[in-house]
Amino acid sequence: MLSDVIRRVPASPIGAMFNRAIELRAAGADLIDLSLGEPDFDTPAHIRAAAIAAIHAGVTRYTASDGTAELKDAVRRKFVRDNGLEFNRRQVVIASGAKPLIASALQVVLNPGDEVILATPVWTSHVGMVQVCNAKPVFVATEASEGYRLDPVRLKAAITPATKVLLLCSPGNPTGAVASADDLLAIAEVLRRHRHVMVISDDLYEHIVFTPARFATLAQVAPDLAGSILTVNGLSKAYAMTGWRIGYAGGPEWWMAGLRVLFSQTSGGPCSISQAAGVAALDGPQDFLADWCETYRQRRDLALNELAKVPGLRVAKPEGAFFVYANCGALIGKQGSGGEVIATSSDLADHVLRAGVVTVPGAAFYADPYLRLSVATSEANIIEGIRRLAAACAQLTPRGL
Ligand SMILES: Cc1ncc(COP(=O)(O)O)c(C=O)c1O
Repeated sequence: MLSDVIRRVPASPIGAMFNRAIELRAAGADLIDLSLGEPDFDTPAHIRAAAIAAIHAGVTRYTASDGTAELKDAVRRKFVRDNGLEFNRRQVVIASGAKPLIASALQVVLNPGDEVILATPVWTSHVGMVQVCNAKPVFVATEASEGYRLDPVRLKAAITPATKVLLLCSPGNPTGAVASADDLLAIAEVLRRHRHVMVISDDLYEHIVFTPARFATLAQVAPDLAGSILTVNGLSKAYAMTGWRIGYAGGPEWWMAGLRVLFSQTSGGPCSISQAAGVAALDGPQDFLADWCETYRQRRDLALNELAKVPGLRVAKPEGAFFVYANCGALIGKQGSGGEVIATSSDLADHVLRAGVVTVPGAAFYADPYLRLSVATSEANIIEGIRRLAAACAQLTPRGL
């Protein structure tokens, strides 16, 4: 019998869509996948070479459960180089991905009933991680018309004595919104008056920011709050290393000490070979990051152009990450040619899936009715995917006609 907690937590709708697409493909369907949450680039050659060299050198054994000293030092250099953040080795941990790292970071501070503030639209797993801890997600809505900025007044109103953590994510998944240094300063002002609130800053999309937006992170703009901020990052999105499973964090020693206890009892250290590759990623050339970012920007612009032709979709311009979050409110309530009613964004995602395009419905992000489209795919796929999407949306007619 499963635990009460796990029976209450919904499985990720992103995973459900992924599985449905696999089934359809196996049945011979021709699908364009605009649901992907990972770079379509290959891991750079120098990083792959470092992994192969590590295998030949026998770097194939358990490592310390919070990561190797070599990778921690590379992470420390990265934090100084990119974020102006100085950490000693005890203030850094490595884990098998940012996702389990954030889940663990929550697990070591949350008691049942504690509240965690999340700005919606929110990445589905940030919510699931809180629920797995038997804690309570508290949603603060952000609006497309305000560039999805977390409004300090709404944030303040959401804080209670039970608030334990504020989970920030910029650039955001699914909106691509980027919090400016000024936005973060305003959030810091609120936090200074509520010192019991800790912060996890999920910075996974740091290197995918389109100018004129600029990446900033809370610990950098509010060093006085550093004692309660965990800054999380990873190799997945920046270096096209989703399968290598390396995430890392810098933060206060007390929080790291808790993570070390948990890792020592549960996960053990991340893959030794991936950690060796991680040193090459963080210490090696960084110039391709800007080239990749430019490619994502061009694809975003292409997607926005093509989406402008789709009847019923409204799209705000993302400033970062590789997603476009399209409002599909005008299509809700319409019906397909077989009389089926599009009552939710999930119905719409199913309808466009039948037309050969995989998207993720807004229910996954606690802000609806929307579809999330990924531009981490070729220009040809973006054009053909949105053409199919447009055709599928054009088929929908007002109910009763
Ligand atoms: C906001 C955000 N954080 C974390 C992750 C997962 O990172 P990792 O691959 O390091 O576990 C994702 C993946 O989709 C993400 O969108």
